[in-house]
This record gives sequence, C-alpha cells and structure tokens, in this order.
Amino acid sequence: MSVQKIELCKTSDVTEGTAIKVDTHGLELAVFNLNGAFYVMDDQCSHGPGSLSEGPICGDVVECDFHNGSFNIKTGEVVDPPCMIPQKTYKVVTEGETVFIEV
Ligand code: FES
Repeated sequence: MSVQKIELCKTSDVTEGTAIKVDTHGLELAVFNLNGAFYVMDDQCSHGPGSLSEGPICGDVVECDFHNGSFNIKTGEVVDPPCMIPQKTYKVVTEGETVFIEV
C-alpha cells in the first residue's frame, strides 16, 4: 500500500504550546505544536463530541473541555478518564515550512 502525504498547514500557523483544527480529506484533525515539534491526532475526542484542538494543553497532555478527560498528545494514550479509548494519532512530516501527515 502506498503512503499518501496530506498537507495540513504551515508551521507558523500553530503557535508553540497551542493547537489548531484542520479539516481535510474527510479528516478532522488537531495539530499541536509542542516546543517546535508537531503532533497530530483526531480532533474529535474518542469519548464524545469534544474538540481536542480547543482543549487546554499542559506539557504533553491535552484536556478535553467537554468532560475533562485527557490524552497524551505524542502517543494518543488516555491520561485521565472518563476517556477510555486512545486517540488516533498520525505520523507527521515537516518539510521546510509545511506540516504533512502520512496516511
Ligand atoms: S467528550 Fe471528551 S472527555 Fe467526554
């Protein structure tokens, strides 16, 4: 199976320590910038309708502002309940000023 590279945004679109939501190719994604490194997971919380790009970020953890569950931004693993299902994460590639995922 060949790998598809999907362009998400420019590195300058995401301030360090924040996230943005990107809708593309039928995916709703949260793109995080942690100390200049980019991480991408599904934007919609695995627990319900929360949007993780809108949640507060503390270190490597994002809190869902819907029921206050949280996930590790780098791995998608659940950090705090009521979330039970890990968040799907994506392989990120940055080339110059542009952030891509590989799917
Ligand atoms: S929708 Fe995210 S914790 Fe419930």
